[in-house]
Amino acid sequence: MQKAILLTVAAGIAIGLAGTALTFAQTAPRSPSDSSLRPAASFSNIANERDRSVALFTEMAKVLQHPRCMNCHPATERPRQGDARRLHEPLVVRGKDGHGAPGMNCTTCHGKQNYDPARIPGDGHWALAPASMAWEGKTVGQICEQLKDPNRNGSRDVPGLIKHVTTDSLVLWGWNPGVGREPAPGTPAEFGALMQSWADTGAACPAS
Ligand code: HEC
Ligand code: HEC
Repeated sequence: MQKAILLTVAAGIAIGLAGTALTFAQTAPRSPSDSSLRPAASFSNIANERDRSVALFTEMAKVLQHPRCMNCHPATERPRQGDARRLHEPLVVRGKDGHGAPGMNCTTCHGKQNYDPARIPGDGHWALAPASMAWEGKTVGQICEQLKDPNRNGSRDVPGLIKHVTTDSLVLWGWNPGVGREPAPGTPAEFGALMQSWADTGAACPAS
């Protein structure tokens, strides 16, 4: 008899705990390392087109501000490394074309593809983004305005931006970063779909 009561109590506690876990999962804010992206279609319930566009860009910013992208779009002359975004060791600088200073070119160490035994990321075009494309330390709204500005984004219109993020090998590397690095959230296709929907809704930027 006593055993039955104990079991009932235990079951009750278990159900209670499961309930708490569920509530937590539903209400907990996204952590910075949240690995998912909301599908573009899930924004269709936002009736106002401008608000929908802003919400789509805000979701895209989870990728733009991820270490995989941010490490190569730094505010200074020096790239950053790893999920903690520490300064690149050894000291290397952008150089005049993003490929490093003479004698310390990116390709001295970075190969055509990831070299996992030494955890060195690679790509045939490995280079630091130009200073005009620095995102580090900027708000989501500032990054958005800058991305749309042909004077700073490599003379691209919005379709050109979409083409870049869906085909450029350095962007795609963000989802295939080799061992010891967290991939950018979602998938390249999901990110491209968010950007397309953002463009279709007028490519509006968040106020801040
Ligand atoms: C002397 C060798 C060397 C040179 C030259 C070099 N790198 Fe690196 N780089 C490394 C190594 C090693 C790592 C991996 C370190 C780690 O994450 O543990 C790395 C990692 C990185 C990362 C981190 C990627 C990530 O998201 O974690 C970036 C970005 C980067 N390098 C950019 C550059 C750029 C741009 C240049 C040229 C301007 C360059 N590196 C030149 C050795 C070098
Ligand atoms: C290894 C370094 C590197 C990494 C990693 C990287 N980029 Fe870049 N990015 C560049 C360089 C270099 C350019 C300039 C290329 C050009 O203009 O053709 C650039 C340009 C861009 C542009 C053009 C417009 C602008 O204003 O910035 C976009 C958009 C972009 N990157 C998105 C991304 C995204 C998204 C990621 C992460 C998924 C990423 N990049 C990761 C180096 C990098």
